[in-house]
Amino acid sequence: MKIAVTGGTGYIGSHTVVELQSAGFEPVIVDNLYNSNQEVLQGLYNITGRDIPFYNIDCTQEQAVRELFEKEKFDGVIHFAAYKAVGESVAEPLKYYENNLGSLIVLLKVMQEFGVSNFVFSSSCTVYGQPDTLPVTEDTPRLPATSPYGNTKAISEDIIRDFVFSKPAIKAISLRYFNPVGAHPSAEIGELPLGVPNNLVPYLTQAAAGLRDTLVVFGDDYDTADGTCVRDFIHVVDLAKAHVKALELLNGQSEPNYYDVFNVGTGQGNTVLELIKTFEEANNLKLNYHIGPRRPGDVEKIWAQSDKANTVLKWKTEKTLADSLRDAWRWQQKITKK
Ligand code: UFG
Repeated sequence: MKIAVTGGTGYIGSHTVVELQSAGFEPVIVDNLYNSNQEVLQGLYNITGRDIPFYNIDCTQEQAVRELFEKEKFDGVIHFAAYKAVGESVAEPLKYYENNLGSLIVLLKVMQEFGVSNFVFSSSCTVYGQPDTLPVTEDTPRLPATSPYGNTKAISEDIIRDFVFSKPAIKAISLRYFNPVGAHPSAEIGELPLGVPNNLVPYLTQAAAGLRDTLVVFGDDYDTADGTCVRDFIHVVDLAKAHVKALELLNGQSEPNYYDVFNVGTGQGNTVLELIKTFEEANNLKLNYHIGPRRPGDVEKIWAQSDKANTVLKWKTEKTLADSLRDAWRWQQKITKK
């Protein structure tokens, strides 16, 4: 089955391409390389032994997307392509709404036009904000988003749901990711942040590699075990495999108007300091870090209840936080040498 993977040269997208390929799907990458690098294709070749078809297309461009769907006969779409920098989205909201919602609407329209029925969407635990009760289930109420980026995820979920219920030909799943970390164990692909990383693990591995002076831990006065924020850190390969399961579920789903959402996390929360300690132990090194002020807008603590994904998607995590941090460090060492 041929699957369009928008954003397939990105961090989660590229790992999903590998898992699709090894599960017998035929992934086709659609990416405009806005926040990624074509060199990823070589890494994918090294892992899969196959040249994964790649189209340099911006998914907001309806005619280009239509021509692609005319050429390739897709059986499904996994839509990763989106802007994802929370801070930038606050400074430039229209850029985020235009791109993230525009590409989604184009894809759904063109899927309908070409009778492509299976759609998997990259959503985020950001739709829960700071929940009152933990862990969060899929029934935990969504709270008003704290950034335009987060808002695009919540609005996108609503657009997909409304579309599914108006057009029975489309079936869809939104996967709410928790915090993806790590890299492919081969170190052929991983996260490639442009400029100074916003996220914890790429910043941490750059600091460990001597590319940054010191890691700043944003606040240690939260109401958590050691005062630092709690997140549900999930190995990116485990997360990638959830997309394969989602497609398989959609393929086997005969019910029209099928739409569902799944949390994709480990079910376990770790503090930032616990993650740092695990990184040091897993890689046998000492990290230079210090405590700084809180980062505005940070959620204090969030982790998933992943029972629904375990039972309905028949998916579960296989890797530990130490595995993730060993793989992240192996990848960082490889790209630092280049
Ligand atoms: N952190 C630091 N120092 C850093 C970077 C991060 O202490 O240099 C801390 C943050 O304060 C936070 C934790 O590490 O407590 C995780 O931060 P990340 O930026 O890695 O991840 P976030 O949880 O803030 O963001 C992630 C995704 C977003 C998504 C959000 C939803 O990157 O796309 O989860 O909660 F919107």
